[in-house]
Amino acid sequence: MPASSSLASSSLDLIGRTPLIALSRIYSGPGRVVAKAEFLQPGGSIKDRAAKAILQAALGDGRLRPGMPVVEMTSGNMGAGLAVACAALGHPLVVTMSAGNSPARARMLEGLGAEVILVDQVDGAPGQVTGADVQAAARMAQDLAAERGGFYVNQFHAVECIRAHEQGTGKEILEQLGYAPQAWTAAVGTGCTFMGVARALKAARPDTVCAAVEPEGCQALAGAPVTKARHLIQGTSYGAVPPHWDPSLMDISLAVKDEEVELWRHKLAVQEGLYVGYSAAANVCAAVKLLQSGRLPPDATVATVLCDTGLKY
Ligand SMILES: Cc1ncc(COP(=O)(O)O)c(C=O)c1O
Repeated sequence: MPASSSLASSSLDLIGRTPLIALSRIYSGPGRVVAKAEFLQPGGSIKDRAAKAILQAALGDGRLRPGMPVVEMTSGNMGAGLAVACAALGHPLVVTMSAGNSPARARMLEGLGAEVILVDQVDGAPGQVTGADVQAAARMAQDLAAERGGFYVNQFHAVECIRAHEQGTGKEILEQLGYAPQAWTAAVGTGCTFMGVARALKAARPDTVCAAVEPEGCQALAGAPVTKARHLIQGTSYGAVPPHWDPSLMDISLAVKDEEVELWRHKLAVQEGLYVGYSAAANVCAAVKLLQSGRLPPDATVATVLCDTGLKY
């Protein structure tokens, strides 16, 4: 059969190169918000890029050998990305996940062939996962990796992901827009998305305003005391600064309230036809706040990401 240049050879080829969409129905200006449709990836989230980057790097340098089990702690999205990549590459996957994450995620992971181990919450609540909850799940993943002779992904310490967003997500925004946006907003889990894209955008336009999005009462990146560790933005803001955080890339932290996140999630669905998750809504809410703050020129473009699909909640 002749090879076709438009034929994807596996689900791995479906990761990245997401569309960039202008959100002109929920915000008509001045200025505009554009967003990467990361929820369209095969695992349903932005974390597919990180999963692919880590496994490819580990295969490249021999840390991951053919058929070896892959083990990771996840809030659900990294797990789904890993499950997609593991299926395509032929690795069994074991994930630990705080029981506070949405059950829809566990179902999707199991459907993709992963073994899912739910870990009791320490101080969070269903739908509100804290740093202590995540640490408990991470400890179990580390133990399991040792027990089973598996490759421990350790996403919070994997610098490949920052590069994947710099050379992927960030570069794509610049190419799709045709110019460098004046600002960038993103919620922070490992921080790979925020930092990678910020690096690419600041390289193109050094005065790009890069704003981290944090829940009100849980603004660790802003250096504020954490008074409300429980919040709606699953997958982000665990009340501590992530290990590889580069503070020079963050110009400001923008606070969003749970009620605002709910409101913008609803607006994205009913006005744009985009059924996305909470961090996507928080990112868009913060982008509009930034445009309305007067900090940017009136005709500024703010780029952001729609991190995952609403079907995961
Ligand atoms: C829904 C969601 N949004 C945002 C993020 C943050 O991405 P990053 O880890 O690149 O900071 C995550 C991370 O898991 C996530 O699950």
